[in-house]
This record gives sequence, structure tokens and C-alpha cells, in this order.
Amino acid sequence: MARVSIQLSGVSKRFDHTVKGEVYAVRDVTLAVAEGELLTLLGPSGCGKSTTLRMIAGFEEPDAGTISIDGKDVTHVLPNRRGIGFVFQNYALFPHLSVFENVAYALRVQGKDEASIKRAVTDVLGVVGLANYERQQPHQMSGGEQQRVALARAVVFQPKVLLFDEPLSNLDAKLRVEMREQIRSLQKRIGITTVYVTHDQEEAMAISDRIAVMERGQIVQDGTASDLYYKPKTEFVARFIGRTNLLDGRVASASEVEIEGQQLPLSTGRPVGSTVRLVVRPEMIDLTAAGAGEAGTGRVLQRTFLGEKTDYDIQFGNTKIQACRSDAFRGAAFDVGASVRLSFDPANIHLLT
Ligand SMILES: Nc1ncnc2c1ncn2[C@@H]1O[C@H](COP(=O)(O)OP(=O)(O)OP(=O)(O)O)[C@@H](O)[C@H]1O
Ligand SMILES: [Mg+2]
Repeated sequence: MARVSIQLSGVSKRFDHTVKGEVYAVRDVTLAVAEGELLTLLGPSGCGKSTTLRMIAGFEEPDAGTISIDGKDVTHVLPNRRGIGFVFQNYALFPHLSVFENVAYALRVQGKDEASIKRAVTDVLGVVGLANYERQQPHQMSGGEQQRVALARAVVFQPKVLLFDEPLSNLDAKLRVEMREQIRSLQKRIGITTVYVTHDQEEAMAISDRIAVMERGQIVQDGTASDLYYKPKTEFVARFIGRTNLLDGRVASASEVEIEGQQLPLSTGRPVGSTVRLVVRPEMIDLTAAGAGEAGTGRVLQRTFLGEKTDYDIQFGNTKIQACRSDAFRGAAFDVGASVRLSFDPANIHLLT
């Protein structure tokens, strides 16, 4: 498998939208995907993920900027000349063709001989776990099986690049997890450079080498799942990846921050008196029993037992804080109404401003 990279430089795309008028679907996107990397475009509906992917594939032409694959400028090259395998949300299989013919299609277009078509199709069906399904018709198969045919069809002609647009959103939750693991292992095995689109943050975290978070046509941050979780650059990213508390405070001393009029032990390294916004994930908060009304305490509003952990909503001054504990069954669980002391390990806390 040839190892290729993808480079987008200053890519923009505008549409005339019947309702919204002229919209920038994608605005000045610069992005590099390394050889063999699986990069995910993640963001809410309408943020420009599919448009970006479709420009890489050649289904849309950018208004500005350039796209190169394997170091060659393909900005104005036709889709079928780009060597790209594309997997869509709705599978897009040919309903009247057998599994074999669906997968063989691109090879027939390329004019390959019958023997090598047979060999390639049989091989790839084995790889996606559909050996012996050659004569099956798409309507005789489950959604998960159909999506595997679509995957086989996308990789059978050994494309340089693989693109996925929400490939799992028509499948049930269990199958989604199974399929994303299969896609991931296939992608790593054949080492193909891949761009994957989803609006599901958990799927993105599970499948990606790197994630680029999009908001209103732009990439606001890219990094590993753990970069985005622990060091989000903006409030949008902090809220989009995982659950979070955004707490506004004032540095009260070298070792304390005042939040909601209460002093909490935390050294920020910032000058005394400066304002800070903290990203505090629920699992980073330590809860201990406290007397009512003591300094640095809040009141339990709600408790949700979830088996492996217990979630708490805590009223802390005027702020509602989400916390969770994983050892609830061993330690005493806090009752609704109980006073709890909140503390953080400063090493975990990220400052937004
Ligand atoms: N062909 C088109 N004509 C007009 N507007 C379009 C067209 N395609 C996309 N848009 C607009 O461009 C913006 C980005 O659309 P895009 O399909 O890239 O979003 P997306 O991130 O893939 O969203 P979703 O998660 O819902 O699939 C949206 O505001 C959309 O309405
Ligand atoms: Mg889309």
C-alpha cells in the first residue's frame, strides 16, 4: 500500500442556501493528514464536515485554496482520478447487483481481467468477514453486513486514501462499536491514510489518531483525543468533548482560587487577583463529607447511580457542578441534601483564560 499524505491549504467553500442565503460551509481550512494516519473531522451538524470531505474526494470544488494528495495538487482533478475510496452513511450499494458485483464494480471500470477481479474480491470479502457472501443481494443482508460490503467496495481497488462520512450512523449502538473497531483494525492493517467524519465524540475518540474539531466551517483545534480532553483551547471544544464544568474564578493567593465567593485549594501559577476560567471534568473533583455551611462546600442536588460510577449534581454557590465518583459502593455515597467538600488535583485542572 502506497503511503500518502493529504494537505488542505486555505480551503473555502460557499453555497447559496435557499433559507440561510450565502453560507460559508468551509472557511479557510488548512489541515495536514500524515501518511497512514486516521484523522477525524468532528463537529455539530452543519459545521462543514461533509463539505470538507467531499472536496477531498472531488465531489465539490473549493472556491479558494488547494488540496494535494501524495504531494500532487488535485484541486481540480476529477474524483475518479484521485484514487479515493469513499464510504457513505447510507452504504450506497447497487441494489440490483450481488455482493460480488458491488465489490467488483470499480475493478470492472478499470478494465481488470476476470481472474484478478475474482481474486481481489474474494480476498477483500474475507478481510471484512463476508467470505461466501458473493451471491447475496444487498436487501438480503443486515445493515452491518451492507456496511461491510460498502467498506470492501471502497478498499478493493487499493485506493491511496479512504474517506468515511458518518458510516455507522444507521447502525444500532452495539454494532456501531463493533464496526468502528473493524474499521480501525482494517485501516491500521493496510496502513491507508484516512479521513473520517462523525458528529459522535465517543466514536471519534475511539477510532482516531487525531481529531480536528470543526465549528462553523473552521477547524478550531486539532490534536489527539487526550489533548482535546485535557487541554481544550476554547469553551466550544471543552463542551463538545466529554462532560465539563467551566468555573470562573479569581486567584486569591498562590495556593487558592476563589470561586463563587469560596476559597478552593488550587495553585494556578497566575498573579493574585487575576481572573481565570477553569475546565474541570466531573471525575477530577474529589468529594468528601463536610459540615453544612463550611467553607469550600456545596450541597448534593441529585445523585445518579450508574453502576461503575455515581454522578452527582452539586450546588456550589450559584453554580451547578457535575462530579462523579467511581468508588461509591465502597465509600459512603452522599445523600441528596448532604454537604460535600470539593477539591481538585491541581495537575488535572486546565485554565482556559
Ligand atoms: N449543496 C448545498 N447547497 C447549499 N448549502 C449547502 C450545500 N451543502 C451544504 N450546505 C450548507 O453548508 C453547511 C455545511 O454543510 P455540511 O454538509 O458540510 O455539514 P456537516 O458538518 O456535514 O453536517 P451534518 O453533521 O449534518 O452532516 C450547512 O450550513 C449546509 O446547510
Ligand atoms: Mg455531513
